[in-house]
Amino acid sequence: MSNNNVQIFDTTLRDGEQVPGCKLNTEQKLIIAEQLDILGVDVIEAGFPVSSPGDFKSVEAISKIIKNATVCGLTRAVENDIKVAAEALKYAKRARIHTGIGTSDSHIKFKFNSNREDIIERAVRAVSYAKSFVEDVEFYAEDAGRTDNDYLARVCEAVIKAGATVLNIPDTTGYCLPSEYGAKIKYLKENVKGIDKAILSCHCHNDLGLATANSIEGVINGARQIECTINGIGERAGNTALEEVVMILKQHPYLNLDTRIKTEMLYGISQLVSDSMGIYTQPNKAIVGANAFAHSSGIHQDGVIKQRETYEIIDPKDVGVTESAIVLTARSGRAALAYRAKNIGYELTKLQLDEIYTSFLDFADTKKQVDDDDIHQIIEKSKVYNEISS
Ligand code: KIV
Ligand code: ZN
Repeated sequence: MSNNNVQIFDTTLRDGEQVPGCKLNTEQKLIIAEQLDILGVDVIEAGFPVSSPGDFKSVEAISKIIKNATVCGLTRAVENDIKVAAEALKYAKRARIHTGIGTSDSHIKFKFNSNREDIIERAVRAVSYAKSFVEDVEFYAEDAGRTDNDYLARVCEAVIKAGATVLNIPDTTGYCLPSEYGAKIKYLKENVKGIDKAILSCHCHNDLGLATANSIEGVINGARQIECTINGIGERAGNTALEEVVMILKQHPYLNLDTRIKTEMLYGISQLVSDSMGIYTQPNKAIVGANAFAHSSGIHQDGVIKQRETYEIIDPKDVGVTESAIVLTARSGRAALAYRAKNIGYELTKLQLDEIYTSFLDFADTKKQVDDDDIHQIIEKSKVYNEISS
């Protein structure tokens, strides 16, 4: 694997599914997992097998059908969790156990009523035990975002020695600033003995709207895996959005970091996840929102009609959207009206356009959006159009 490849670890079916009221059944999970595999993700986190018989069944069923991606199951640093995950993953072509424990002082004190040395011992024990089932073991240092860097480095060093192949550095509470998260990854790269034997992974939550920025800072500073979900769904304000990090790396080639994602599938898979979970995607959502390629102000419409790149940095076809939308509202100009009229078969002269534009504005003031039927009616009712055309 070349060093500029960023692995995409999709956790839509685990962290993403933690959205209240969005539980998926096994059939729905299988359909999504299959699409994720075709999309080209490197790892599919299929669930948390010990959490329920249904989750166990889903992880097992996904393990049986996935052809390319590594299938991963989450555990706590608890023997039984790890044993159950190994059992659920036994049919996977490539299996990974994802185990870990909280490392911030607040987790150590309040969650575990423990101390730093004991946490390191538990972490090492969990990784060694997971290693007895699978070669590929990812360790997460929960709340790494609020864990002091010296201690985090000691934890990482110990679990690498125990055989961890991937080190997940979660900003569990979405607290870090991008500069802080990037510096954390850099610190680990520079201070953990044996770090070259493992891949550093970014797992950022979006409580302050910084998940995507933090993940990008992470890979700029040496991480080579991003944990993310389709549409950025997940616990509370969600996780890093897969489509965002993938397109950022694609649109900024000078970063020299890329992924194996077939970006033309992004819009379709976004719709699949949103329909299956019954979660509406906000219209202004980057990359996959309904308005991501829609232009409604006259100035922008005129620019896009002349040359798409004036107001678009992504070709909509690159993410599976057929074309940019020129939306007609009371803010639209003549260029947009002429363009939309032409799309439904009317080639308007300048004189016709001037008159029809006035009727269009009167009509548009009464309606949020003017559709093809409305344009048709406005044109057919127009005196000047009928006089000149007959
Ligand atoms: O946010 C987090 O810390 C997690 C871990 C369980 C990986 O989801
Ligand atoms: Zn998480």
